[in-house]
Amino acid sequence: MSLLDEGHDVVIVDNLSNSHRAVLDAIQLVAGRSPYFEEFDVCDTDCVAEIIRRYHCDAVIHFAAMKHVGESTRIPLDYYGCNIGGLTSLLSAAQATELRKIVFSSSGSVYGSTDRLPIPESHPHNPTNPYSQTKSVSERILRDLCISDPSWRVVALRYFNPAGAHESGLLGEWCLGPPSNLLPVVVEASLTEHPRVTVHGDDFDTPDGSGVRDYIHVMDVAASHLAALDLLDSADFGSDGLPYDVFNVGRGHGVSVFELIKTMENITGRSFRVDVGPRRAGDVAALYGDTTKAATGLGLTDYRDFRTICEDAWRFRTHNPDGYQAVAADRS
Ligand code: WQD
Repeated sequence: MSLLDEGHDVVIVDNLSNSHRAVLDAIQLVAGRSPYFEEFDVCDTDCVAEIIRRYHCDAVIHFAAMKHVGESTRIPLDYYGCNIGGLTSLLSAAQATELRKIVFSSSGSVYGSTDRLPIPESHPHNPTNPYSQTKSVSERILRDLCISDPSWRVVALRYFNPAGAHESGLLGEWCLGPPSNLLPVVVEASLTEHPRVTVHGDDFDTPDGSGVRDYIHVMDVAASHLAALDLLDSADFGSDGLPYDVFNVGRGHGVSVFELIKTMENITGRSFRVDVGPRRAGDVAALYGDTTKAATGLGLTDYRDFRTICEDAWRFRTHNPDGYQAVAADRS
C-alpha cells in the first residue's frame, strides 16, 4: 500500500497459505489502485524467475515466511523448509536474472536473551528458538552472497513486534487460523462474552514479571521498507566494505504483557480475566531495540505511539467482524 502511494508498481507473490485474496480489494480501496498479484509458492524458483523477468522487477522485499516463535519449537522442519528454502529459492531466481536488490524481513528475535537493552545491531546473535534461528541463518546467507558477489545490494530489517493496522480500519492482520501473537489474541478475546487471556509466565526478570516487547506500528514498519529501498540506491550504501546492512525496526520502548492487556481494557471498555500459565518454549524475558542506527541510516524518527497501535488493531477488527471473507462477498 505504502509502495503504491509512493508511485511504485508492485507485484505480490503469495501462496495464500495464511492470507486472503480479498486483501487486494482492500488495498485498492485504500490506495486507489491494486498491485499485480501472482498466486504461487516462493519455493518455486522457476516461477519466481519468470515473474521477475515478466514484470521487469528491480527490487524484491522478501516477507514470505512462517513467524510464530512457539509454533516453531513444535514444527521446526516446516520453519527451516519455508524460511530458509524460501529465501534460497528467491535468491536463486534473482541470481538467474538481473535483479540484485533485496530488502529482507529479519527479526529482532535473532538477539535472543540479553541484558543489554535497548539492544544495538552490533549485538551478537543468540537465537533461542527455530524461528529466530531461521532469521539468523538467513542473514548469514545474504551476507555470504554479498561477500561472493558485490553486485548484490541487501538490507536486512530486524522487526521487533509489528502490530496495529492501517488507520482507515480497512487493512490489517487477518490470520486464517486462530491468532497466537499477543495483541491479536487480546483483541480477539475482547470480543467474547467473558474475555480472558493467558499470560505465558509472570516470573521473568522484568519489572512486572511478564514478557517485555517492542511493539511498532505496521505503517511505521512499512515506512522502513520505503527508506530501505531508497538506501539501496544510494551511492555510499553498505557497511564493513560490503553492499549489505542491517537495521532494527522497533520503537525502542518495552511494553509488558500486563501493560498491553491494561491498555486494551481501557480502549475496549472490557475487563479481562487474566490467567498466568507456564512460560512459552523459546520465549525471552525482554527485547527492545536501539533505534539510533535506523534514525541515522533510514531517517526513521517519528513513530506512532503504543496506544495508537492498539486502537488501530481494535478498529480494524471491529470494522471487519468477518475479516476479508466479507470484503470478498461484498465484491461478488
Ligand atoms: C509477545 C509476548 C509472549 C500470547 C514476535 C513474532 C516474531 C518476531 C518477534 C518479527 C511474549 C506473550 C503471547 C499470549 C502471552 N517478529 N504472550 N500470551 O514472541 O515476541 O514474537 O516478535 O517479525 O515474528 O511472532 O511475540 O506476540 O507472540 O508474544 O503472554 O496469548 O506476549 O509470551 O512475552 P514474540 P508474541
